Amino acid sequence: MTDASTRFPNLRISHHPLIAHKVSLLRSESTNAKDFRSLVRELTGLLIYEATADLPTANYSIKTPMEETIGQQLAVRVGFVPILRAGIGMVDASIDAIPGAIVYHLGMYRDEETHQPVNYYNKLPANCTTDVVIVLDPMLATGGSAADAIDALKSWGAPDIRFIGIIAAPEGVTHLAERHPDVPVHVAALDRELNANKFILPGLGDAGDRLFGTH
Ligand code: PRP
Repeated sequence: MTDASTRFPNLRISHHPLIAHKVSLLRSESTNAKDFRSLVRELTGLLIYEATADLPTANYSIKTPMEETIGQQLAVRVGFVPILRAGIGMVDASIDAIPGAIVYHLGMYRDEETHQPVNYYNKLPANCTTDVVIVLDPMLATGGSAADAIDALKSWGAPDIRFIGIIAAPEGVTHLAERHPDVPVHVAALDRELNANKFILPGLGDAGDRLFGTH
């Protein structure tokens, strides 16, 4: 057990060398928007593999050019929920990994004064028809946005919820564990702390601004 997994039982940090390499490039202020978008996509693809490693499969019969054999297919329906805006940068890699997944959108921004999340868009359909719902947001800072998004997903009826981020602050992981201890949090890095403005240190700045060039 590492220190982090003892302190945060809901947290799964990837220690893959490719992830460490790519997240370091992502942090650098000299990384431009095009490369930043590519890195977010590449990191998401790697984190998806880890966050879905326990999904069940079902056997089915397939015919190779040589003979009949038994194949496997995912036995659950998966939904992705990117939190707008920055979560949009994680969608393409997610549906590349699971092409049959459904994408649902939630829009949230953090009020600059109070740092509280404001939910401005909710496009969840009437009923939840997926077995596993994976929330996508590169940043887990105070954890307020993710926790409110998961509140909405639980009210909607999502049975198995997971969170994939890229960088988390200890404050956010703690907050999410208090409100949603059943939700595993998969990230590329656990950073040191939040600053007075609730930005992650050392972090990477504002992921939405860097993805979309709005800074
Ligand atoms: C960022 C980030 C998360 C949220 C994290 O979004 O993408 O959604 O802040 O902060 P929290 O854990 O303290 O709630 P932001 O509010 O900057 O909106 P944006 O994605 O539109 O840039």
